[in-house]
Amino acid sequence: MYQSEDRSKTPAAATTAVLTGLGAWLPPREVTNDELCSHLDTSDTWIRERIGIAVRRRADPKTATGDLAVEAGSRALRSAGISSVDAVVLATTTPDHPCPATAPDVAARLGLGNVAAFDISAGCSGFVYASTVAAGLIRSGTATRVLVVGAETMSAIIDPEDRSTAPIFGDGAGAVVLEAGRPGQAGALGEVVWGSDGERGDAIVIPVGGSRNRDSRHSAPKADFSVRMHGNEVLRHAIRRMVAAATRAASAAGWEPADVDRLIVHQANARISAGVAAALGIPPERVPSNIAEVGNTAAASIPLLLAHAAARGSLQPGHRVLVVAFGSGLAWAATTLVWPAGVCAEL
Ligand code: UT7
Repeated sequence: MYQSEDRSKTPAAATTAVLTGLGAWLPPREVTNDELCSHLDTSDTWIRERIGIAVRRRADPKTATGDLAVEAGSRALRSAGISSVDAVVLATTTPDHPCPATAPDVAARLGLGNVAAFDISAGCSGFVYASTVAAGLIRSGTATRVLVVGAETMSAIIDPEDRSTAPIFGDGAGAVVLEAGRPGQAGALGEVVWGSDGERGDAIVIPVGGSRNRDSRHSAPKADFSVRMHGNEVLRHAIRRMVAAATRAASAAGWEPADVDRLIVHQANARISAGVAAALGIPPERVPSNIAEVGNTAAASIPLLLAHAAARGSLQPGHRVLVVAFGSGLAWAATTLVWPAGVCAEL
């Protein structure tokens, strides 16, 4: 187990996880709505009005999630000014392989040596789940510094012929460094409010490719290896669950919704973000968004938005930030932090 001088001086009870680095990376190729319209029965107007997306990024077929994670992870490490961590936690729905996990390869390629490294699968809530697990490692004294990455190559699991998913999802990655610090310090992660509803798991599912239905692996149509989504059902649950979780997370931080300076909401659909913000009573100018330019990047969505909002000056030191996500599982998670000074997003 990692032993450090700092840790022995800091009792576990007085330690919490503080955000000290932030990075993001997007594959360069942009796919416009017009490009999708060339082979899908949809329109630029429908996608803009019903989802809020103008363009999304797609990794080229030789680029995998681990490649995006290395790019974002290296930027987060540079942002934090460090070159070593005790663990790497990667949130993804699109690992490089079913086995092994992608995080060990990412850690090795980042030159982080033989550190603990593992993946977390919690859909679009994966980054908040991964950050919560990392914060637990730090609070328990098991780790002092953790690299947390959310990375997705959603194009690998989308049926390009399915108009109910193809316009929505995009590829990308974001990452943060969490380090041991004092509770109450700017950047300290607040309490998490999280949960799941496995009874509605089939609302977003890839039917074939795992251990379930493996008999049909060789006979199943190609589309069964792609994401199937009951979009409208997901939309309704997303708003309800995110409002409830965000309300409780804000309250755990001692905040009223009116106290929240920035709502960082998973970029699933601009209408979902607007619905969550309206129900919480948070005005639109306090709700940064990048869905128009990146689409729904699942587990990468929250760290990508944090990085873009920070780089654009929308997140300022001292801002009370409420973070909330929702996705497959179904699973949701919300937490808070006060935005720290001195964290520059590396894009
Ligand atoms: O990231 C976490 C997981 N994902 C989400 O949170 C996504 C949540 N869901 C959504 O964002 C929305 O439900 C969608 C964008 C997927 C769909 O929007 P909607 O307003 O819920 O539409 P709908 O599924 O109720 O469909 C309304 C109509 C249907 O036509 P009819 O039956 O009314 O004639 C659909 O066939 O819109 C049609 N439609 C489309 N039309 C043009 C569905 N997709 C498209 C499309 N282009 N791409």
